[in-house]
Amino acid sequence: MKNFAFSIPSAFCFGKNCVKRNPEVFSSLGKKAFIFTSKFFPGCKNYALQDVEELLGELGIEYTVYDECIENPPVMSCVKASKLVEEYNPDFLIAVGGGSVIDTCKAANMLLKYPGHDVYETLFTFNIIPNRVTEDILGTWRIGPNNNGKYPFISIPTTAGTGSEITGASVLDREDIDNKAGTAPFLFANYSFIDPRYIMEAPAKLNKSTALDALGHGLEPYIDTGSRDNYMVEALGEIGFKLFAQFKDHLLADAMTEEDYEKQALACTIFGFCETLGQTGVPHGLGYPLTHVKGIPHGLACGIFEGEYLKVFKDTTKVMRALNLMGFDSIDEFADYVHAVLDQYVDITVTRAEIDEWTDTFYNTAWRVARHPEPFTPDDVKGIYERTLAKFIVD
Ligand SMILES: [Fe+2]
Repeated sequence: MKNFAFSIPSAFCFGKNCVKRNPEVFSSLGKKAFIFTSKFFPGCKNYALQDVEELLGELGIEYTVYDECIENPPVMSCVKASKLVEEYNPDFLIAVGGGSVIDTCKAANMLLKYPGHDVYETLFTFNIIPNRVTEDILGTWRIGPNNNGKYPFISIPTTAGTGSEITGASVLDREDIDNKAGTAPFLFANYSFIDPRYIMEAPAKLNKSTALDALGHGLEPYIDTGSRDNYMVEALGEIGFKLFAQFKDHLLADAMTEEDYEKQALACTIFGFCETLGQTGVPHGLGYPLTHVKGIPHGLACGIFEGEYLKVFKDTTKVMRALNLMGFDSIDEFADYVHAVLDQYVDITVTRAEIDEWTDTFYNTAWRVARHPEPFTPDDVKGIYERTLAKFIVD
């Protein structure tokens, strides 16, 4: 077994009413808070924001609410938010929302730490981080300062998908390279409050997409090279797969119970640990152009590749171990499940020329290709695109 490092720097509290049960956490961070959130779908109430505002009011903490965070946040939207934070001059930050909100908060926080630097270099060049431990020392580059932003911050997720509440990176739209990318992974929330009640109101499309996105955060590092250097990815992933088995049928049938949502929220957090320790792999790389070019939300764009990707494995020992824990008997059964859950929400047309272009783009990202544990050709990549998107190809 190789040496490995294990660190989950965010303290997190899980369960109903966990925000209001922990007022001392909020008051310990100061007297003035800047809240990041987004506008919710019509008819959906932001219960998490309501809880936070009520609590801050009771504690006498001054606050402002910035609700302009957008889905798939571009870097420049984080720059804009950072300027507003600077003007408000808070003691701490609170991110209330889905992954895009939390990612915007993290990135803005990091930009505020390094004023005057090039924003892309600040966010994406690991060299700017002081005191980071490199792979030469520990066999991992995923250990460094916990919160490398200017302010302490609290994350409160309202979806169970990204795991961003306990991971150290943001996934942002990079205008400079015309694609999405993850930031340096050193932006962990100081505290995270995960209340399953907040995800129960989410529309089915959002909840199903985020559930399979989260599954990918555990499954991808588990079956590719992501777990090779970190035993904990395997151990945590298997706990998450067992939880997924318990709500997967209800997820497909739109019959989620309160207990199912609790299991989904916990599985998402556990898979977030796997992502932090092992990173995402091939399906997430395949999904980025669907978001960037076609505007498909991240969870849906990545989740739909989880099934067909598994068909390229020649040695299926580990793949089947994961699928059996999830309650599937074959790769075909799992791939059919993914199609049944998500295809109904994909509303795009795709050309073969686009698939060729995306295949080239993916294959030029050497580290993603290297994540697959077996020989992996451009034809393999193209085949995953073609099988996954077969219903949407128009020529
Ligand atoms: Fe994801």
